[in-house]
Amino acid sequence: MGQEPELQRFPACNTADMKDCDVIRIEPPGLRPVAVYCLDGEFYATDDTCTHGNASLADGEVDEDGVVECPFHAGTFDVRTGEALSFPCVLPLKTYPVVVEDGTVYVDLEHGRLQEG
Ligand code: FES
Repeated sequence: MGQEPELQRFPACNTADMKDCDVIRIEPPGLRPVAVYCLDGEFYATDDTCTHGNASLADGEVDEDGVVECPFHAGTFDVRTGEALSFPCVLPLKTYPVVVEDGTVYVDLEHGRLQEG
């Protein structure tokens, strides 16, 4: 069996696999799914499950302002901060630090955080 990936450097994808406004879902074993976004050459990660219901945000749409729209009821979040931007979403998403190294996008699953206030 392979080794468990480190939670501080969970490999999500290659930079070349994603273009602007793409979003993918990763499913780390035993943890909540995480959405990874490409925005203007930068990468961001949030919890994948909408805080309003059981929708996968990776099935939603991301615009060039970094707003992801939930596929269920069209609530929106800022992918950079996790802030809930429009009803019916009111609770923020947890965000995760992302590091890019040698063309690989790593998500730090250990240091997810919720936006203050
Ligand atoms: Fe996402 Fe309702 S489940 S807006």
